[in-house]
Amino acid sequence: MEGYACIFDLDGVIVDTAKYHFLAWRKLANALGFDFTENQNESLKGISRAESLDIILAWGNVELTHAEKDEWLKTKNNWYLEHVLTMNEEAILPGAKEFITIVKNAGFKIALGSASKNAVSILEKVGLLNQFDAIIDGTKTTKSKPDPQVFTMCADELGIAYKNCVVFEDAEAGIEAALSAGMAAIGIGNKTILNRALFAVNDLSEMTLEKLPFINSNTIPH
Ligand code: BG6
Ligand code: MG
Repeated sequence: MEGYACIFDLDGVIVDTAKYHFLAWRKLANALGFDFTENQNESLKGISRAESLDIILAWGNVELTHAEKDEWLKTKNNWYLEHVLTMNEEAILPGAKEFITIVKNAGFKIALGSASKNAVSILEKVGLLNQFDAIIDGTKTTKSKPDPQVFTMCADELGIAYKNCVVFEDAEAGIEAALSAGMAAIGIGNKTILNRALFAVNDLSEMTLEKLPFINSNTIPH
């Protein structure tokens, strides 16, 4: 029996933290004298903290030294963590907890594939830390999405073939990362933006086992 796995991004897929990243980055931009739109913010999704800062500074035509950038990265994370502190189970996005349970009960492995260095503490806060068979986050990766590294590391740790993995992502960069890994990608959120995904749903409450691309009569291990 071949193994199969579902790999979940964290921010914007399992928890509603994408809006907190946006608020904190916007506060930083405003403090440096410029602003950016929610549309521009789409291209930051899935991107590491340090790379996001470089993109935002380029939007504002602001040049900083390495030391100044390090300070702003700390400040942004502190602003972000102020929001994270308020989180509890209610911050889990609709259907996420339930779909994870369904997938686990069907005998599939599950992994977290996130760029965030705050992933473990967020999962702990919302009570989902012990649900995952593997967790690959921003403390373990060296390359940012759209590089496939985060997802191939998940599959390698689980011992599952890449072609037998499906990735759930709210970021364009994440969909690209999954496709480059040879995995199927399902979009969470805007169907127009995530048009390279197999299909997109508004949230995981719209997902069922039957919609998984590798589901057929031989897949479910009973
Ligand atoms: C990704 C988010 O999941 O994690 C990005 O989509 C964020 O917006 C990145 O920049 C890094 O997160 P953190 O928590 O390490 O700053
Ligand atoms: Mg995300």
